[in-house]
Amino acid sequence: MKRDERGRIFLSTENASKEKTFFGHPRGLATLFNTEFWERFSYYGMRAILIYYMYDSVAKGGLGFDQATATAIMSIYGSLVFMSGVIGGWFADRVLGPRQTIFYGGVLIMIGHIVLALPNGGATALFVSMAFIILGTGLLKPNVSNVVGDLYPVGDNRRDAGFSIFYMGINLGAFIAPFIVSAVSDKAGSFHAGFSVAAVGMAVALIVYVLTGKRYLKEAGKKVPNPLQKSETISLILKIVGIIVGIGILIAILTMITGSLTINTIILAVTVMGVGVPLAYFIMMMTSKKTEADEKSRLTAYIPLFLIAVLFWMIEEQGSSTLAIFAAERTDLSIGSFQLNPANFQSLNPVFVIILSPVFAWIWTKLGDRQPSTPRKFALGLFFAGLSFVIMMFPGIIHGNTTTLVSPLWLVLSFFICIFGEMFISPVGLSATTKLAPKAFASQTMSLWFLSDAMGQAFNAQATQFFSADTEIAYFGITGFVAIAFAIGLFILAPFLKKYMKGVH
Ligand code: GLN
Ligand code: ALA
Repeated sequence: MKRDERGRIFLSTENASKEKTFFGHPRGLATLFNTEFWERFSYYGMRAILIYYMYDSVAKGGLGFDQATATAIMSIYGSLVFMSGVIGGWFADRVLGPRQTIFYGGVLIMIGHIVLALPNGGATALFVSMAFIILGTGLLKPNVSNVVGDLYPVGDNRRDAGFSIFYMGINLGAFIAPFIVSAVSDKAGSFHAGFSVAAVGMAVALIVYVLTGKRYLKEAGKKVPNPLQKSETISLILKIVGIIVGIGILIAILTMITGSLTINTIILAVTVMGVGVPLAYFIMMMTSKKTEADEKSRLTAYIPLFLIAVLFWMIEEQGSSTLAIFAAERTDLSIGSFQLNPANFQSLNPVFVIILSPVFAWIWTKLGDRQPSTPRKFALGLFFAGLSFVIMMFPGIIHGNTTTLVSPLWLVLSFFICIFGEMFISPVGLSATTKLAPKAFASQTMSLWFLSDAMGQAFNAQATQFFSADTEIAYFGITGFVAIAFAIGLFILAPFLKKYMKGVH
């Protein structure tokens, strides 16, 4: 039996080849594909209508928040969902192993969606639901991805292709959900009916995971890689208490600065954490005795790439906040007698991922050694994200005002350009993280990469509050051009960064 650096045991390839496969891949991939398909179905389905639920008036079945607060909550929610991956990674690594951690995460997510589906829960139910989904997703998401990696024997060259198929599952779920969730919520005339579809989706994810996991996943992800020792209990309790006290102190300080404890104080606290958590992570890796000299150099090169990814996710994630508002408030949604639901625009991001992923995979294979380096790819990705915002200045400029309803094609074009950029960053970023992060932190790679998204959305929690129809042209223009400036900067500095990457392309 072979073992890799994390001590994972694999079935031998000879055995694996005699079994039935899933598109030439281990059957376990089908389990993880379906689990993540339904989990993302529930997450993105819920998010497709959530912003409207928050800012629609109470008479229309919403919560009646102002738009700036609603966008900021979308961002802190998204930020915390990705930040909690750190907890999930740790928990799987030290306590339960990925397989069980995924299960408990799924249960928490389902409870979260059920809470939101109950009518009349108001803002309290929303925040309770958020807490469940944040923790649940943190436990589930990075670990499902980790188990995908565990399905392949060491050196099995199907692993990258396996991740591409898995990524398709994510985006198929994200593509279908907004149509179904918005249709149900429209038909029933209640947001809660839509949220109940998300709850059903997550229930299906759990059923698939439990029923097929036993047979197909076999031993994958069952082992606890680095079990917690009895002697560590006290220091662990102290650490947990320390973190809780730390968050308490942060909120207290921000309350003193802002004068009162409001939702804005909490939003600000999450922004600070969105910066603080990745920073602490990098300091820990940089100063760890387990990090070797070459690895420190690689980590130095990784930091600017991470920051570029942060800027990229800032723009990409606004697809469900500022662009969702643009879809509802500034776009002409009638096509003849047919009326589009603004939530439908949320399907554009995943559909373009599904269309473009194979194209890019083909291009990278064709280019082989001639393909751009990782830093250059990141620069291109950010450039297109910036461009996707710059073009959103034009509806307002061309009409000479920001009140006339504009063609939905503006949003289609903007999403297309942004996702074109995503192709240079999202699949590349994870593999770059694997190669550039120190070996001792390998099991945290997925969580580390998700922190770039968490930090992006933490910044968004502040930035998107400046967005409104009045500021629209300047907002899209400034954000877009700043991103393009950073992209050009990175493109120029790329050869210099490569020196620090110590042989990683
Ligand atoms: N959109 C993808 C997902 O939800 C990837 C997000 C990310 O890598 N930050 O899984
Ligand atoms: N593009 C987003 C992700 O890959 C939806 O899942």
